[in-house]
Amino acid sequence: MSQSTWNFTIALAKGKLLPPAIEWLSRVGYTFDEDLSRSRKLRVPACEGGVTALLVKPDDVPIYVEYGIADAGVVGYDVLRESGADVFQPRALDFGHCKMVVAGRPDDDYQRFPFRSLVRVGTKYPNIAREHFQNSGIQADIIALRGSVELSVTAGLADVIVDIVETGTTLKQNGLVVHEELFASSARLIVNKASHKLKLDLIDRLLSVQ
Ligand code: PRP
Repeated sequence: MSQSTWNFTIALAKGKLLPPAIEWLSRVGYTFDEDLSRSRKLRVPACEGGVTALLVKPDDVPIYVEYGIADAGVVGYDVLRESGADVFQPRALDFGHCKMVVAGRPDDDYQRFPFRSLVRVGTKYPNIAREHFQNSGIQADIIALRGSVELSVTAGLADVIVDIVETGTTLKQNGLVVHEELFASSARLIVNKASHKLKLDLIDRLLSVQ
């Protein structure tokens, strides 16, 4: 039996990455009968090839792939790096481009942060933020939030945020500026380590399209 007739499950991150991920899958050759961006279904078979999409929160994509519930996944590098998941990362995809930054008030002198006794940091990325401030020698209280992190500075909860910037609109509309760029991010195709050996022809097919 050809490997390509086996079932293959791919976890897709709900949210901003979902429409471009669906478009990328259609270029690979997998389409869906329904609009996944609108559907409330969490497990949707593709029209072709025994492929099934799992629709999960971005943070959960690396977990489903690491544990082998999904053979592969599409997730932002920002989320993947925060997760520390043990998965193969064979391919950066050409969508979901953004930057991980430290941002805060325009009148703050960020150069002097190392001399402050404690800097409060609001973030959805506590591991990335902790590592960054440790490496910078800045004493930081990392405050883990679930979203709308810009508010943590404007409302007085935090001095700065560690967050992704895509268009810059959210920072601008909340009167904040980028103090430091940490790294660039984009969508990644990630693969379960066992699936990488067992379902190589399907993974090769996914790898054939940027
Ligand atoms: C993300 C991120 C910023 C915003 C950046 O939030 O955390 O808030 O997008 O995008 P921009 O530079 O194009 O404005 P998301 O939209 O995922 O929502 P959240 O605040 O609920 O996390």
